[in-house]
Amino acid sequence: MAGSLSRREQFMLLSLLAACLAVLANTFDGDGEPLVASLAFSGIAFASCYALVRWLGDAFMRAGFKGKDMSKPKLVEIPETMGAVCATVYLFILIVFIPFPFYKDIVAATSGGGNRDFILHVQEVETGRFLHRFPHSKLASYLSAILSLQTVVLLGIGDDLFDIRWRHKILIPAFAAIPILSVYFVDFGVTKIVIPTPLRPYFGELFDLGWLYYAYMAAISIFCPNSINILAGINGIEVSQSLIIAMLLAFNDLLYLLPPPPAGFPSPHPATDSHLFSLYLLLPFIGASLALLAHNWFPARVFVGDTYCYFAGMVFAVVGILGHFSKTLLLLLVPQIANFVYSAPQLFHLVPCPRHRLPRFNRATGLLEPSTAVFDERNPLRPVVGAVLKLLHRVRLVRVTTDPASGRVVECTNLTLLNLWLVWWGPMREDRLCLGLSALQLACGLFGLFVRHKLALLVFTQDNWG
Ligand code: UD1
Ligand code: MG
Repeated sequence: MAGSLSRREQFMLLSLLAACLAVLANTFDGDGEPLVASLAFSGIAFASCYALVRWLGDAFMRAGFKGKDMSKPKLVEIPETMGAVCATVYLFILIVFIPFPFYKDIVAATSGGGNRDFILHVQEVETGRFLHRFPHSKLASYLSAILSLQTVVLLGIGDDLFDIRWRHKILIPAFAAIPILSVYFVDFGVTKIVIPTPLRPYFGELFDLGWLYYAYMAAISIFCPNSINILAGINGIEVSQSLIIAMLLAFNDLLYLLPPPPAGFPSPHPATDSHLFSLYLLLPFIGASLALLAHNWFPARVFVGDTYCYFAGMVFAVVGILGHFSKTLLLLLVPQIANFVYSAPQLFHLVPCPRHRLPRFNRATGLLEPSTAVFDERNPLRPVVGAVLKLLHRVRLVRVTTDPASGRVVECTNLTLLNLWLVWWGPMREDRLCLGLSALQLACGLFGLFVRHKLALLVFTQDNWG
C-alpha cells in the first residue's frame, strides 16, 4: 500500500526508536546530559517524521495539498506541503526537550543546590522558591525560538494553501523574528561590530550600528526563508541544501565544544552556551529533514512545499541570531546569496519572470535542460536589458536566443543557479543536478568555514575560536 511502511522499515524505525528512548531514560542518571538527549531526540524526530510523512500522504492529497511533478514523463500528482509534517514533528520535539537542558537548573533552583533534603522555609515556598537561581534568560531564548519558528510555519502553510503574493508575504518573517530580536535586545543587546584591522585607523576598533543592527537581523530572517524557496523546483534540492547548511553549522558548533579551549582561553569557552543552544535546535532539524529527504529524493514521492523552505530558513536565522554568529551563517549561504543576486533581475521584473523557473524536462531524452523566459509583445524586454543579457551570454552566464532579422533578444534562460548549472554542464538527469548543487553547497560552506577561522586572522586580530 502506498501509505504504509514495509516490514523492514517498521523494524528499522522501531529499533531506532527503542534505542533512542533507552538513551533518553539514561540521561536522567547523574546530571542529565542534554546534548546526548538532543541526539536521542533527533533519532526520534527521524523515526516519527519518516513514518508520518508516509502515513499522512494520502490525507494531504485529499485535503488538496498536492502538486504535479513537472520533470517526469508522466504527470503524476503527489502530496505537497509535507514540510508541515516535518516542522510539526520538529516543534513537538523542541517542546518535549525543554526540561532536558534545564534539568540541572530546575533541580538546583527548586531544592537548594540539588540537595533534596534541604528544608524550604514557608516564605520561599510562597514566593516560588529560588527563582534567582534559574537561568530565565536561556529559557526565554529557547521559547522565543519556538515562537518565531511556529509563526513562520503558519506563514508557510498559508502560502501553500493560498499561494500568497510575494509582496504580501515578504515582511512576515521579519514579524516572526520579533520574539528572538526582543530576547536578543534584553539578553545580549550588542549592536557593535568589530572593524577589520586595516580600517581601524578610520573607524576605531568597534563600530556601533545601533538600530541598524536590528534591521540587519530582520533582513537575515527575511532572506534565509525566501532564498531557500527560490533555489527550489527539482526533487531533493530544498532539503539537501538545508541539510548541508545545518550540518555545517553543527560542525562549526562542535569546533567550539569538542577540543578543550587552548591555553589562555577561559574554560569552558565563553561561546559554549550559544553553540550548545544552536546544536539543540539543529540536531532534531537534521533528524527530521533526513527523513523528509528519504521521501523527497529523486524520484520524489512527496513535495516539501513552501512550508519546509520557510521553516528551514527560519531555523538558520534563529540559530544565527540567538547564537550570535549571523556572519558565519551568511558564509554558509553563499550559493543562496549568489542565486538571489543572479535572480534579482527577474525578481524585480527587469526581465520578465514566468510563474515557474524550474528547469525544463525533455521528454525525449529524460534529461533536464535550462528553462527559458520568452519575450514578445506581452512580455517586452527593454533594449538596454537585452544588451546586458547579450553581454552575459558572451561570458556564459546566461544563454540567449536572438531574432536573426532584428538582432533582438527573444528568449533567455531563467536566471537561477539550477538553470545556470545546466547552461555550464549541459543537460543532465534530475538527481545529478541535485547532487551537483549539493556538492557546490558543501564546497562553498567548507571554504566559508575555512575563511571564517583561518583567513579572517589576516584582517582581524583574533578568531574567537582560538
Ligand atoms: C519558487 C520559484 C519558482 C519555481 C518554484 C519551484 C522564484 C521566484 N520562484 O516558486 O520559479 O518554479 O519555486 O518549486 O524563483 N515542483 C516540481 N518538482 C520539484 C519541486 C516542485 O515539479 O521537485 C513543482 C510542483 O509542481 C510543485 C511546485 O513546483 O507543486 C511548487 O511550486 P511553489 O513552491 O508553489 O513555487 P514558488 O515557491 O512560488
Ligand atoms: Mg516554493
